[in-house]
Order: sequence, then structure tokens, then C-alpha cells
Amino acid sequence: MSEPSPKPDLEDSINVTAAHDRLVREAAAAVREKRIDDSGSEPISLWVIAVCGVVFLIAGGILGGAGDLFNYGAVFKPGYVRTPPPGMEASGPAPKEALAAFMTRGSKIYSVKCNGCHGADARGDGANFPTLAGSAWVTGDTDRLAMIILNGLVGPMSSGKTYGGAGGMAAQGTGLSPEDLAGIMTYVRNNFGNSTGDVVTVEMAKNAMDISAARAKLGQQMTAEELAADHAKNLSGEPLDPAALVDPITLAPVAEATP
Ligand code: HEC
Repeated sequence: MSEPSPKPDLEDSINVTAAHDRLVREAAAAVREKRIDDSGSEPISLWVIAVCGVVFLIAGGILGGAGDLFNYGAVFKPGYVRTPPPGMEASGPAPKEALAAFMTRGSKIYSVKCNGCHGADARGDGANFPTLAGSAWVTGDTDRLAMIILNGLVGPMSSGKTYGGAGGMAAQGTGLSPEDLAGIMTYVRNNFGNSTGDVVTVEMAKNAMDISAARAKLGQQMTAEELAADHAKNLSGEPLDPAALVDPITLAPVAEATP
């Protein structure tokens, strides 16, 4: 672009009416933009806010200290228990006996996680996958069983035979909650002809997960050697009466239902 000439370009044709209109419009816009409103909604100056803050603080201290504000005792009655509306006494799913509830959870996990290899009847296939029916490591120490499920197994299994070739059994812990692990363990110990009759509790399953997470060989499959050295024991935890009532969803024990 060339420098604008200081002198008017006499060649330029100017539409005087249009130029005048534009001038008026722009002036009007400028007036609108710069208008100072006397509407009463101008910002309050900071010192007014500060003074109000101090006044409110003192007032709040006096009222609150006297116990006239925040008097929760007047609103919440101590020991208040909401009575359920008529016909709605029982809320949530009906409690179930622990063994049955844990088995139900376990059977779901079995069909998702174990069925594909060990088979619907848990008899394996005799070649690549071993049977879980009558397996000493299924019905034996719970720590050992938990470690096999969480970490997998390679090399000789309970019978001394090796299945699955060099791959063995892959870890199955991914996505299992303590409730799932407790369920699947209780299920395989009490199904397919196995009947230990006991419940592996959620607390025991949590302990198993802690033990597994603290392994020196973290992330590696279990071997018969490591199982014998570190896991030939039962998981610690309060035993649960198989007939005790639990919430079928959370598997948490519930108080005896009042008739
Ligand atoms: C991908 C296939 C596969 C899946 C899935 C699988 N397993 Fe296994 N499982 C095997 C193989 C293979 C072995 C034998 C490993 C060996 O010989 O070292 C085995 C061995 C076992 C053993 C040891 C048995 C014994 O007597 O020594 C137990 C217990 C076991 N599996 C439980 C389970 C459970 C419970 C699940 C489901 C949570 C499951 N497995 C899922 C393939 C699988």
C-alpha cells in the first residue's frame, strides 16, 4: 500500500450524503458506548463491602454464640427412626443364607471366567485343562486357591501333571471384586461334587488380594513351588456361619429379619 497523501485526492469522488450519514451513525454509536448510567446499579465501593463484612461477622458471632442461629437440636430429634409407610416394611432384596448367596455370585463368575477352559461341569478336557472336581488345591488351603485364581498357574498342578503346556493357566484376577473372589472360591469348593461346606468370606478375599499384591513375584503365574513355600495355609478372617443371613447383592451379613 502506498502512503496516504496528506492532501485530499481531488480525483476521489465523494458521496457527501453517504459520508454524512456514516458520520452521524458513528457519533451516535460512540455516545451509546460511553454513556454513564445513573440507574443505581453502579458498583459499590470496596470499603462499603468491607464495613458490611465486619458488621456481619460481629452480628453472626453474637447471634451464633447465643445459640440462636444453627440450633440443630430444634430440628433433628435424637434417636429418630423413620417408620416405613404401611405395606412397605421390607425394603431391598430379601436376605439369603450365606452359602446360597455366595454360591449364586460364584456361579455367575464361573460361567464368565472359568467355564471356557474348565468346562460347565468343571471336569476339564483331560488334555489341556484339568478337572476342578475333587482337586486337592480347590478344596484345600484357601490361600493357595485364591493365589491360583488371582495369578494363574504354570507347571505341575496338584496331581503333579502339567496342563496347558508352557502357557499354563492365565491369571483371572482382572476385574474381580473381593465379593466376586469370595463367591467363586465358595462356589468351586461346594459344587461339582466338592463340598467343603464353608464360606470364603469377603474379608478373607480382601486379605487374599492384599497377599497377592505384596508378592515378590508380582505379575508372574504361581508355581507349585511358590504355593508350597508361601501359601499352604488358610486365609485369615472371621468365619461366617453358612446359614447366617446376608444381603444377596452386597453379601454383607444382615441382622435376623424381624417377622
Ligand atoms: C485360559 C484357560 C483357563 C481359565 C480361563 C481358567 N483356568 Fe484354571 N487352569 C487352567 C489350566 C491350563 C490349569 C493347569 C495349569 C498347570 O497345570 O499348571 C488350571 C488349573 C487350575 C487350578 C489348579 C487345579 C489343581 O488341582 O491343581 C485351579 C484351582 C483352577 N485352575 C481354577 C480356576 C478357576 C476358579 C477359574 C475361573 C476363575 C479358572 N481356573 C480359569 C486353565 C484355565
